[in-house]
Amino acid sequence: MDYVKRILDIVVNQNKWRRYECLNLVASENVISPLAEKVYLSDFMSRYNEHNAESHYQGTKFAMEIEYVVKKIFEEKFNTDKIEIRPLSGGLANLIVYRSILKPGDTFISPKLTAGGHVSSTRYGVAGVLSLAEIPMFFDSDEMTVDVDKTVELINNVRPKLIMFGRSVILFPEPIKEIKNEIDPKIKIVYDAAHVFGLIWGGKFQDPLDEGADIITTSTHKTFPGPQGGAIIARSDIDEKIWRKLEFTTFPGVVYNHHIHRFPALGITALEMNEFGKEYAEQVISNAKALAEGLFNYGFNVLCPHKRFTASHQVLIDVRELDGGRKVATKLEENNIIVTKIALPWDSDKDATGNPSGIRIGVQEMTRWGMRESEMKYIAELFHEILNENKSVRDKVVEFRKGFREIRYCFKVERYEDYLARLFGGF
Ligand SMILES: Cc1ncc(COP(=O)(O)O)c(C=O)c1O
Repeated sequence: MDYVKRILDIVVNQNKWRRYECLNLVASENVISPLAEKVYLSDFMSRYNEHNAESHYQGTKFAMEIEYVVKKIFEEKFNTDKIEIRPLSGGLANLIVYRSILKPGDTFISPKLTAGGHVSSTRYGVAGVLSLAEIPMFFDSDEMTVDVDKTVELINNVRPKLIMFGRSVILFPEPIKEIKNEIDPKIKIVYDAAHVFGLIWGGKFQDPLDEGADIITTSTHKTFPGPQGGAIIARSDIDEKIWRKLEFTTFPGVVYNHHIHRFPALGITALEMNEFGKEYAEQVISNAKALAEGLFNYGFNVLCPHKRFTASHQVLIDVRELDGGRKVATKLEENNIIVTKIALPWDSDKDATGNPSGIRIGVQEMTRWGMRESEMKYIAELFHEILNENKSVRDKVVEFRKGFREIRYCFKVERYEDYLARLFGGF
């Protein structure tokens, strides 16, 4: 077996299939821009940096500079100097925040797993690893939002040190302000923006820090279309002791080399989002509504028709009548349509990894490939043909994708050709 060829084949196959032949509708994925992709592969990929105030390595002057510059872009966007971009993922960002504020044995309040809470905020994930006990906040599954009155009562009874908002299944903004106004101001409010960070950056979802959150944790690669990684953003007036603990939990706590090669791509994405983020976020939300409406018109049980289905990048369908999320997601994948099976609020924790009630669709990536409302209507028709009429549409999907091969909402690579020619030689 020639493993070299096999590995190269795998990469070619992946690129061909997922990048050019599929409708990628996974709500936690995206595609980075051509310019960000160009600078992702650089000498930084092979280097180390570990630092608090000073680097503990030699040869890091540019590694320190790129981190400084990217943090500066984030600082200017969020109006705070409390930015941490070293966490390698959103889950790790959550771990760092929990560890900095809570002690083993503490309880905190977070979204229930089957109401879209991320596993890192439950006993099965980071919270369990840190010996924390989560108490789920109350959720209204008709409205697909937090039940504010019951949750305020819960918080005022439990008096936790920390409440976590934000979820993996998220159609509508979280009621941060409503809850903040009714609880002890000393309770720290954290917002896990992993899914909606791009919509927040574009100013089209909610503004957690302005509404009363103390800290945002996030991934940098879902609706925010950057390289895979994590970040933490805190209010500028957060207790210095907490921020210092957070930095020390990051390093030397849990992140050593922080994979510096992410930073040029992260910076480019942030600048692209400054320029195109509003337009992108608007189109994402409009596309999600159009897809939801199209699916609803074909008889699918799309959640929240009374609220125009969604205010985010996500669309949720209850597919219990079609044999459940696992079956439906598999059938769609056979037709090159990639979605996620997902638990809905009435499911049990066990259903989440079994055959849950729902599928979750995210339109952010296909929006970046240039699709708009009319394409969403066509995608709804493809779902109908596959799931209601049992037709095979794989070839149609491949053909359809041929019209969408250019990534939008980003800088043109040609503008920077002279720099790109110098990246690997030609100095
Ligand atoms: C709400 C939420 N938080 C955190 C994470 C973890 O992010 P990462 O995959 O970057 O660790 C996810 C992942 O999907 C998520 O949905």
